[in-house]
Amino acid sequence: MTIHVVIVSGTVFGAAEDVAHHAAELLTDAGLNVSYNPHATYAQLSALKPDALLFVTSTTGMGELPDNLQPIVAALRDGPPQWQGVLGGVIGLGDACYGEDFCAGAHLICELYEELGVVQLQDMLPLDASETVSPETDAQPWLTEFADSLKMAVVQ
Ligand SMILES: Cc1cc2nc3c(=O)[nH]c(=O)nc-3n(C[C@H](O)[C@H](O)[C@H](O)COP(=O)(O)O)c2cc1C
Repeated sequence: MTIHVVIVSGTVFGAAEDVAHHAAELLTDAGLNVSYNPHATYAQLSALKPDALLFVTSTTGMGELPDNLQPIVAALRDGPPQWQGVLGGVIGLGDACYGEDFCAGAHLICELYEELGVVQLQDMLPLDASETVSPETDAQPWLTEFADSLKMAVVQ
C-alpha cells in the first residue's frame, strides 16, 4: 500500500513554503505518495482523504498562524470528524527571540491534531530563523525519521 501524505503550508514570506517543497521532494524520494499545493483549500484537503498530514508553518504577529492557514484551521475544527487516526507531523518555523511565542503557530497545530484525533508520530520540529540559514537542510533528518515512522505505522 502506498501511503498518501498531504502537506499543508502556512507562510508570510515564503520560507515555510520552501521547506514544504523540500519535504515533498524528500518524502516522494522515500517512496511515499505526496500531495502538496501551497494554495490548497479545506475542501481540496478533505477530498484527498490522506493517510497522513504534514503541516509546515511559520508564526506571525505575537504567536499567530499565518493568514493563509486560518480558513483551513477553522474548517478543520468545525468540519466533520474525518481525521481520527490519521497520522501527523508538524514543522514550525519561528524565531527564538519571540520568547514564549517561539513557534506558537506550530504548537497550535499540535493542539489541533489532538482535538481532531490526528496521531502525531514525532515531536514538532522547531526551526529557529536566528540560528539557521537553511531550514530546508535542517529539516532533513526529521523528515527522514518521519518517512520511516509512517512506513512502520502503516505496516503494523
Ligand atoms: C511580524 C513578524 C512577527 C513574527 N512573530 C513570531 C512569533 O510570534 N513567534 C515566532 O516564533 N516567530 C515569529 N516571527 C518569525 C517568523 O516566524 C520566522 O522569521 C519565519 O522563518 C518566517 O517564515 P515565513 O517566511 O514562512 O513566513 C515573526 C516574524 C515577523 C516578521
